[in-house]
Amino acid sequence: MPELPRLVVATRNAHKTAEIRAMIGDSFEVLDVSSFPECPHIEETGTTFLENATLKAEGISRVVAGWVLSDDSGLEVDALGGAPGVWSSSYGGDEGNHPRNNERLLREMEGKSDRRARFRCTMVLAREGLAEADFSGTVEGRIIDALRGGAGFGYDPLFIPEGHELTFAELGDGVKNSLSHRARALAKVIDFLKHSGPK
Ligand code: IMP
Repeated sequence: MPELPRLVVATRNAHKTAEIRAMIGDSFEVLDVSSFPECPHIEETGTTFLENATLKAEGISRVVAGWVLSDDSGLEVDALGGAPGVWSSSYGGDEGNHPRNNERLLREMEGKSDRRARFRCTMVLAREGLAEADFSGTVEGRIIDALRGGAGFGYDPLFIPEGHELTFAELGDGVKNSLSHRARALAKVIDFLKHSGPK
């Protein structure tokens, strides 16, 4: 059997990798940087999703051969002026501490009647240290006032996507992966890869 082409996701977030692997199907072998101990830690010093996604994709593709895909994503809440935005993963104080991030979001949203929010995702494909294309996806929704559901990660227990009454964490992976910001950006990535062919 011919070997599948490889797509390396520039993340150590196992949830992101699992979602991308589930959505991409069997046309690529999806790995992430946890399979490549030689990968450096990339500081996310950008102030936009695109800047951070570019830093990650270019940085990892300098040491890993073939296509590298990065995902920079976050939650924008209207009543908070777009926060936490690019700083979503450290909103509660420590990087990647989802319970603390959710606690802070609940606190900041106390008494706010405008609950509108969206998840935004920007993906960059890079090879040999250079970004070749970027893709984005968003999903509109609203923030509720208590955690609900056990699936997904991050702010999923507090976010109800438009057209639904359950949070992403209650809807589960199947529904989330059909309409999320990541799904929408990834559909464009898959289309691009189909037309440019794996290298
Ligand atoms: P990044 O790893 O720097 O892109 O930060 C992404 C952060 O945004 C995560 O740590 C979560 O806080 C939030 N986030 C991004 N995508 C999702 C999602 O699909 N569900 C819930 N939270 C998300």
